[in-house]
Amino acid sequence: MTPDRQAPRLILAPLKGFTDAVFRNTFAEHFGGFDSAMAPFVATVAADRLTDKHVRDLLPHQNTRMPIEPQILGNAAEDFVFLARRLFDMGYPDVNWNLGCPFRPVTKKRRGSGLLPFPEQVDEFLSKTLPAIPGRLSIKMRLGRNTPDEILRLLPLLDRYPLKEITIHPRTARQMYAGLPDLDMFQACLGQIRHRVVYNGDITGLEQFRTLAARFPRVDSWMIGRGALSNPFLPAIIKNGRDGVVGKLEKFKAFYDELFARYQERLCGPGHLMNHMKGFWTYFACAFKGGPDFAKRIHRTFKLPQYLETVQCFFRGNAEWRGNDEKGDPEERARLSPPCR
Ligand SMILES: Cc1cc2nc3c(=O)[nH]c(=O)nc-3n(C[C@H](O)[C@H](O)[C@H](O)COP(=O)(O)O)c2cc1C
Repeated sequence: MTPDRQAPRLILAPLKGFTDAVFRNTFAEHFGGFDSAMAPFVATVAADRLTDKHVRDLLPHQNTRMPIEPQILGNAAEDFVFLARRLFDMGYPDVNWNLGCPFRPVTKKRRGSGLLPFPEQVDEFLSKTLPAIPGRLSIKMRLGRNTPDEILRLLPLLDRYPLKEITIHPRTARQMYAGLPDLDMFQACLGQIRHRVVYNGDITGLEQFRTLAARFPRVDSWMIGRGALSNPFLPAIIKNGRDGVVGKLEKFKAFYDELFARYQERLCGPGHLMNHMKGFWTYFACAFKGGPDFAKRIHRTFKLPQYLETVQCFFRGNAEWRGNDEKGDPEERARLSPPCR
């Protein structure tokens, strides 16, 4: 008998443009496995410009299926506190500070991972915000902006503050999503911080998860993003420690149909709807044999009826679930982009 290990705490990663309230609710209804989700970031704006639109995706009555933690991107303490208070007023006990966003327009303004090379600025920000907010703060970060050791200068100062937890995606911003997560550096971080640490990065299968969990026994919380979009059964499989799911194709199709219907109600115009769904297929296609070719076909559709016809043909005809990724053809896997491997 295997020892009775506590089920891991699993968190849906924020993926801006994908994991909004519609997706989170629909996902939770069809697959489960996640304990909570971190919502994609809301950027700070000057207090007099903050409107309901900024927090629409976070309205509690639209987030009934999965507990969520809102995330804020910004570096101005005053604006951060104003937005965070609004979120605490909405009933959220915690908010997350984004120190990971790798995109140049963000980092060059010293936001997201752009702040990682500047410990003094991080220190000043935390010393101003933490006493001014009525709830807990967590942080989601990369190893650095330019080099993976930038984090080592930050951890001692983060330890001085009463944070809820720190999620680490062990890549630099410069890497974006290329290469592999730097597990040695992640391990080094664990040795230097007392806060609870959440691991995040490239979790795509049960065996691989087990290897990570065995290497990092101190970690009890795991955040999964692209791996859950590419194989939506993965969180429940990891949670249960086994893949007992039958009828994956039918279950996935039911989820897809509902997701499509909900976005059809929500989004304005056929072009917008089609582009949104095409974005999802970049990930969804990974679940299928020959998925990358199907994704290319989908991306070559330019009108909604053509898109619908292509997807219907796929489901009616040759859609075949790849099954457990780890048992797939290694040659095919090697050709795939990271979320599909
Ligand atoms: C399209 C996309 C959007 C993202 N949006 C956010 C975001 O709003 N906030 C954030 O902290 N991270 C964001 N991320 C990073 C993910 O949360 C996560 O850290 C990253 O994808 C690595 O985890 P994974 O390998 O499990 O996907 C985004 C990533 C992608 C690919």
